[in-house]
Amino acid sequence: MSATPVNVTVTGAAGQIGYALLFRIASGQMLGADTPVRLRLLEIPQGVKAAEGTAMELDDCAFPLLAGIDIHDEPRAAFDGVNVALLVGARPRGPGMERGDLLAANGGIFKPQGAAINAGAAYDVRVLVVGNPANTNALIAQAHAPDVPASRFTAMTRLDHNRALTQVAKKAGVPVADVRRLTIWGNHSATQYPDLFHADVAGRPGVELTEDRTWLEDDFIPTVAKRGAAIIDARGASSAASAANAAIDHVHDWVHGTPEGDWTSAGIVSDGSYGVPEGLISSFPVTSSGGDWEIVQGLEVGELSRVKIDASVAELVQERDAVRELGLLGG
Ligand code: NAD
Ligand code: LMR
Repeated sequence: MSATPVNVTVTGAAGQIGYALLFRIASGQMLGADTPVRLRLLEIPQGVKAAEGTAMELDDCAFPLLAGIDIHDEPRAAFDGVNVALLVGARPRGPGMERGDLLAANGGIFKPQGAAINAGAAYDVRVLVVGNPANTNALIAQAHAPDVPASRFTAMTRLDHNRALTQVAKKAGVPVADVRRLTIWGNHSATQYPDLFHADVAGRPGVELTEDRTWLEDDFIPTVAKRGAAIIDARGASSAASAANAAIDHVHDWVHGTPEGDWTSAGIVSDGSYGVPEGLISSFPVTSSGGDWEIVQGLEVGELSRVKIDASVAELVQERDAVRELGLLGG
């Protein structure tokens, strides 16, 4: 076991995702069975008491890897020395809302948090934004952390990726582990584009499934893209355990690498690949090795994919412009 605990800050620690996430981090599922963690829980003052209750339960699990828990209601202290920051704390949408409707309410949270990360984070900090609208919130945080490499700010589209894997596995009648090389492009919103043109489905090309255009366009794509709303409708609350699971998967693969021959999806800062304007935080097909995400290059983008990627990227541009107007991107 390595001697020095990794500092993991989780915002919104008393929320429903926080509750599904913290125990898995403390048990070693995110960073590995050899890596002790020190948890820093950030909440707003009204959430501190509930966070204290969660901390008591974490203590009561006697996790061997859990080196300590601190509770904060102020970002500077919560992010001081942070190695892994999970920015979950934000208002979830309710029935009938789109995630973009949360921009004004939630965007303001990410400006001071980005500044606090800039001020005190460890040199190797890695940030995952879960709070919606995740891509644009990540952009806001990144804009306020000029001393941190932009590539360290990411937004979560792994939940969409996992949702797509299961839909394809069910359609093809194969185990989910046999579906590889799916991609979520664009925004974590209803415009996202789940792409299986390059997928490998139990050794067969995913493009075979795309021949059923009705399934592809009227079933697969909307089912994945609108899954969050379907869960809100069914549960009366937005996804929590599956969101926490996706956050664990994202950070795990970022730190430990993606499996040989496969890739995953993550919202990362665009370098202009695939016509996505540089600087936007957009979902791409990505691999990870040595602790860095890399965009999978050279994929052919057909007509349907081009239209869908462009539509989602156009929404990201609109969101960026809207938060710029709100003064959330700084100078
Ligand atoms: P929740 O309402 O249960 O919990 C949110 C918590 O954040 C609350 O405890 C609240 O007190 C806290 N909080 C609010 N402002 C904060 C701040 N400035 N600093 C620290 N904590 C703060 O919500 P939830 O279900 O846990 O969802 C959290 C966010 O995650 C929502 O925005 C939701 O839409 C989003 N989400 C994203 C994905 C994804 O795939 N990217 C998936 C599911 C949910
Ligand atoms: C999800 O995809 O489940 C989350 O982003 C919550 C939501 O608002 O849909």
